Amino acid sequence: MKLDLLGDRKRTHHCGDLRKEHAGQKVFLAGWVDVRRDLGNLIFLDLRDHTGVTQIVCNPAVSADVHDRAEEVRSEYVVGVEGEVVVRTAGTVNPQLSTGEVEVMARSLLILNEAKTPPFPLEDETKTSEETRLRYRYLDLRRGRMQRNLRLRSRAGQVVRAHMGEHGFQEIETPFMTRSTPEGARDYLVPSRLHHGHFYALPQSPQLFKQLLMIGGFDRYYQIVRCFRDEDLRADRQPEFTQIDIEMAFPQREELFDIIENLMEKLFALVDVKVPRPFARMAYDEAMEKYGSDKPHTGFGLEWKRVSFAPGDAEKVRVAQPIKALRVPGWGGASRSQLDKLQEAAKSLGADWFSYIKMDGGTPQSPLAKALEAPSLNAIAGSVGAQGGDLVLLVGIKSAASRDAFRMLDNASGELRLDLARKLELIKPGAWNFLWVVDFPMFEFDEKENRFAAMHHPFTSPREEDLEKLESDPRAVKARAYDLVLNGSEIGGGSIRIHRQDIQRRVFKVLGLTEEQARERFGFFLEALEYGTPPHGGIALGWDRITALMVGESSIREVIAFPKTASAIDMMCEAPAGVDEEQLKELGLKIKTE
Ligand code: AMO
Repeated sequence: MKLDLLGDRKRTHHCGDLRKEHAGQKVFLAGWVDVRRDLGNLIFLDLRDHTGVTQIVCNPAVSADVHDRAEEVRSEYVVGVEGEVVVRTAGTVNPQLSTGEVEVMARSLLILNEAKTPPFPLEDETKTSEETRLRYRYLDLRRGRMQRNLRLRSRAGQVVRAHMGEHGFQEIETPFMTRSTPEGARDYLVPSRLHHGHFYALPQSPQLFKQLLMIGGFDRYYQIVRCFRDEDLRADRQPEFTQIDIEMAFPQREELFDIIENLMEKLFALVDVKVPRPFARMAYDEAMEKYGSDKPHTGFGLEWKRVSFAPGDAEKVRVAQPIKALRVPGWGGASRSQLDKLQEAAKSLGADWFSYIKMDGGTPQSPLAKALEAPSLNAIAGSVGAQGGDLVLLVGIKSAASRDAFRMLDNASGELRLDLARKLELIKPGAWNFLWVVDFPMFEFDEKENRFAAMHHPFTSPREEDLEKLESDPRAVKARAYDLVLNGSEIGGGSIRIHRQDIQRRVFKVLGLTEEQARERFGFFLEALEYGTPPHGGIALGWDRITALMVGESSIREVIAFPKTASAIDMMCEAPAGVDEEQLKELGLKIKTE
């Protein structure tokens, strides 16, 4: 096919611009052909760009050339149209289109490029598999939905930059080729050609660099920055993702919270959401007890409570104390199969003891009634405020062999709660439940490794009042860490940091790092702490998660232009890929085949 040249023609309008007021104007539009309709005498082209669609009329009575050319055009061809805006007759107005009151009578039609038939329809709602969409991402991106998502993300980025600038934050870049950073996932490594056997690590976050910037006298830093983590992927995790990374010297937590809440207010205003402020706060311990999660969805009730049986009763029903109880209002008539499903779910999540009490009428009904009297059951049901018609779910663990078992119980209770909420359709769209989770424990005990690990990261400051317990009772030490949660999704996390090297060394010691190991891994950083480090702290916001929530997508892949699949593959470029022998040799590497 003969293609035309664009020459020096410039678009006068976008495809979504034209209205009645433009009638009579000469215009030049360019874009993709969405649909071609051939009515024999007339050919209509729907010309599309990211702003919308304009109907182009190719009438042989106006130009025989244009009509001939239009016969060759197919969907997704790239065309340019010179013509005149005309008002449509009453019966042909298309109220679905913003440009539906007008059309363009073409006087010349340029076919700028042809296109193969796309492997899937480029419509907003698609049933096409994600693999195919990602394989042809450049076509997928033409869909209105992807256009809206990424354009919103770009606008939101401008809001972030303006907001941080207003508050005196400097945008500073930090290296991608660096040493391992301490966020607890696996690193992506880059082999060095000049130093065989040595590797750069891609940063899991700019954590140490932003702290070094504080030491370097930049008292307010931020960056919209890519981070890399080799971890198991889910809908809200990508191997490379973006943070809004923030750090400030001489920080007051309240001041930081205020800056972040105000930022959220401005961001969500872009999607017409009024964010309620101030955000609620909840201590980690309360979140784990009530919601079985450190990122609780607080938009609906269903709160667990730790309860204990009366002395003697626990042995009768063979469960470790305390168990967890949850009142499900109005569910006293739950069927056997509904309860069986819950039991199965509880077991698969690690809660190996499951029971319930139905408050159906006067006497409580429960499988526990074989072992316990009604007053014991009533006492448990009463402790969660159950009333007639309610169901009380009970989960526990048979034997408390380790603390891990109780943690597993908490997690299981959290998952069950979400499961129930979905079943009961309690999670309503359009509600925005922001929450600060605070007072995290400083350490968690890794039973497998038999040592303490930092719950946030090892540079997080313990609470001042807990410093003296650091060595004697690490479990009781709380950190000055906080997470920002929105509708059950962790959208940010940060802390006030350790700025004194004596405390940093003590924390490393609790974590089981010898002086030698600490120096080996973080020597440069420990040294920097010795040169006048100001108190400092910050946060990193999960930018992909925030933008996904803003546009109502359940996967962050929908707000990333070129994401990877759940198995960390780039379907389009086919990365990761093998490399040739020569490259490996230069890098001093040899692939071992099993
Ligand atoms: P953290 O590890 O909590 O903290 O990360 C901050 C936020 O980044 C988002 N996030 C992710 N998003 C998509 N894919 C991933 N794989 C992924 N991992 C994390 C989450 C999370 O809340 N340096 C510290 C911050 C600090 O202390 O200032 C850090 O990185 O929304």
